[in-house]
Amino acid sequence: MATGGKYAVFDCGDQREERRGAGHCPALDTVVAGRARRVACPGALPIFAARFAEIPRRKAARMDIFEPCFTFQDAELIKAAGIYPFFHTLSSSEGPVVTVKGRQVIMLGSNNYLGLTHHPEVLRSAHQAIDKYGTSCTGSRLLNGNLDLHEQLERELAEFTHKEAAVVFSTGFLANMGSVGLLAKSADCVIFSHAENHASLIEGTRIARGAVCVFEDLDDLERKLSRRDKWENALVVTDAVFSMTGRVTDLKRLCELRRRYGFRLYVDDAHGIGVLGPQGRGTAAAQGVEAEVDLLFGTFSKSFASLGGFVAGEARVIDYLKHKARTLVFSAALPPASAAAALAALGVMKRDELLFERLWDNVAYFREGLAQIGYYTMGSRTPILPLFVGSESLAFRLCREALDRGVFTTPVVHPAVPLGQALIRTSIMPAHERSHLDKALEVFAGLVERYPVPMGLDGQRLPTADSMDFTYLQPDAVGG
Ligand SMILES: Cc1ncc(COP(=O)(O)O)c(C=O)c1O
Repeated sequence: MATGGKYAVFDCGDQREERRGAGHCPALDTVVAGRARRVACPGALPIFAARFAEIPRRKAARMDIFEPCFTFQDAELIKAAGIYPFFHTLSSSEGPVVTVKGRQVIMLGSNNYLGLTHHPEVLRSAHQAIDKYGTSCTGSRLLNGNLDLHEQLERELAEFTHKEAAVVFSTGFLANMGSVGLLAKSADCVIFSHAENHASLIEGTRIARGAVCVFEDLDDLERKLSRRDKWENALVVTDAVFSMTGRVTDLKRLCELRRRYGFRLYVDDAHGIGVLGPQGRGTAAAQGVEAEVDLLFGTFSKSFASLGGFVAGEARVIDYLKHKARTLVFSAALPPASAAAALAALGVMKRDELLFERLWDNVAYFREGLAQIGYYTMGSRTPILPLFVGSESLAFRLCREALDRGVFTTPVVHPAVPLGQALIRTSIMPAHERSHLDKALEVFAGLVERYPVPMGLDGQRLPTADSMDFTYLQPDAVGG
């Protein structure tokens, strides 16, 4: 790679080609558009990897506001390597099987933990809601968009979570961001936020005016809390189940700290509600500390087979959120079909014990199968089963190959996980048949024969890295 003027110019395979406008790329054998002035092609990948840091950036003060868009090339690079793992186009779905580019593949990359997106009752309720209320509320709940369906859903969620009240937002992201931001709006409060929290909680801490103290784990939190006797002005915010690794927070211990230090506790149970605890009532219910969680967050975009999110807690706090959270007050209400689908899913969850039996049977079967191959699944005991891979580019390549062989999974790379600790995330649902899981295990067994996936790890000796590994962007990079 050479740097010509403001933009990098790549070598293209063994034939040097400088491109700053439109041109023909021999490696890709295609015409490269002129606007993307730095273009990746397979021959350029090793050079890109080696010199990534050298690409000159314009000084912020003089920068065209669109400059980051024009110079953004991460996606192009991975596309050129043929292993781009994002925005796959799904053209149909039966839940455990989806159609990608005309091929049916086994879906192991969704959050449809109970597989209810195609449950007859859920489908029927959504259809009926459209017939009765139309397709949209066309306004905020505060003004013209508040349906009896929303209120029924709130009542049932409050009952389900054993809280006084609940408030429903149009997405979980808006619920977290709006609630955390609002509760910590005064400059003299403190938010203690887990380092691996979901982006929506982090956005909440960004719009809050209080101080933000990030903690790595509960030992670290305790150390930080112990600087004072009482923390009445503090909100501790954490995911209950970490979405990428399936790791479960020790809420019992967190509640002990709450008793000792007097802070308020906000728990994001996006991946625990509908999965853990009796009837899927969530992580706090599973650990027997429901009553000690001040505010419990859940989303409808996973087990509830819909869209939207909620916060449940003390009635006066919920009423305050309803009137003051800007992400609720200034955003259109949850569409009728989504509210009805979430309500129906909740009904199925409360009634159908077999669903949970099938889920946990499948999880145990698949986890055992992965362990027999030698994959390290990071100790997960949830339907999220991560396969430890290490190298970021290897995770991309493995997901690509798995898809080519009929299994849809998602790669997880930095910053979602530490550098050098990339994963393939798989998730299991009750609707998976044994034949689906066997086929997936066969595919994953095939991958370790071809690629150097670290085997036999125990969590104590996980590899680390200082930078991204690009080795497997090269088309012929097959290790082992
Ligand atoms: C832990 C966690 N919290 C919150 C959200 C946001 O939920 P929603 O998809 O409803 O916006 C997600 C979804 O990805 C999540 O994984």
